[in-house]
Amino acid sequence: MSFNDDKNLSSFFDKSGQNYNPPLEEMKELLSAYLTPEMIKDKTVLDAGCGIGLSCIIFNLWGAKEIVGLDISPESIQKANILKKEYKADDIEYIVADLDKFDLPNKKFDLIFSRGVSFYSLDLKKFLDGLTKAVKDDGFLVIDFVRNSQVTRMTERIRRIFKIIPKKYERILSKILSFIGFPIIKLILGKKAKLNNGKTTEQLFYEHFFSPVAMKTTTIDEIKQILGPDYTAVDLNVPNLGLHSPKTSFYLKITKNLNENITN
Ligand SMILES: C[S@@+](CC[C@H](N)C(=O)[O-])C[C@H]1O[C@@H](n2cnc3c(N)ncnc32)[C@H](O)[C@@H]1O
Repeated sequence: MSFNDDKNLSSFFDKSGQNYNPPLEEMKELLSAYLTPEMIKDKTVLDAGCGIGLSCIIFNLWGAKEIVGLDISPESIQKANILKKEYKADDIEYIVADLDKFDLPNKKFDLIFSRGVSFYSLDLKKFLDGLTKAVKDDGFLVIDFVRNSQVTRMTERIRRIFKIIPKKYERILSKILSFIGFPIIKLILGKKAKLNNGKTTEQLFYEHFFSPVAMKTTTIDEIKQILGPDYTAVDLNVPNLGLHSPKTSFYLKITKNLNENITN
């Protein structure tokens, strides 16, 4: 996977994760839109780009056998390890690593989960190759992707303009923007869209407008084409939830076609 300058990206996420601490119940509600405890029980799970590891804690509560949380941001993993202790979630192993460079083990995981990460990749093919290689043949992946939409186009325009702003002003500008921009965001995302998900609007603006990389947008067809005939990708049709809006992003469940060797 080809991410931009990884140092830039990791320090960006070190900063963006600083005040991120959503209630666990909220994360459970988000995950329950597409995963059930039965899917997780006794399974080996990878959370690729786990952030502060809230999903890993839920997977632990749902009885996963082994959980690996991997993230490029050392400060997020530090927070994740504190939460791990708090919840006595001994079956979680956290790794600070860049998905771009880390060689994941072959066919190790029953489930690979990756939320909020794919769009920082510049090369979705490499991103998907790396993750599909690490899932067992009878396992599956759940990954979210960002669509090309009015919101993502507008965000990118603003991000490009803001690139000229010195780093030291980014946080304060996010604060000001969140104060002014919150009503606008609500208008764009609709009444149903919850903005919290543990994120403050300041953090939301910071992540969107000051990201060192442009959001990589894609379509379901493009992902299917990248995966090729060996895989099936199903849209999980996740409704407006947390920061997710079906207008701007989609979740896919990806499975390997097991009948590939059957000939007519
Ligand atoms: C928007 S956050 C999502 C965090 C978490 N998955 C969640 O749902 O709360 C994106 C995460 O992806 C991580 N990330 C981005 N690029 C990465 C890379 N190349 N390798 C590993 N982690 C990466 C960031 O550090 C950050 O924690």
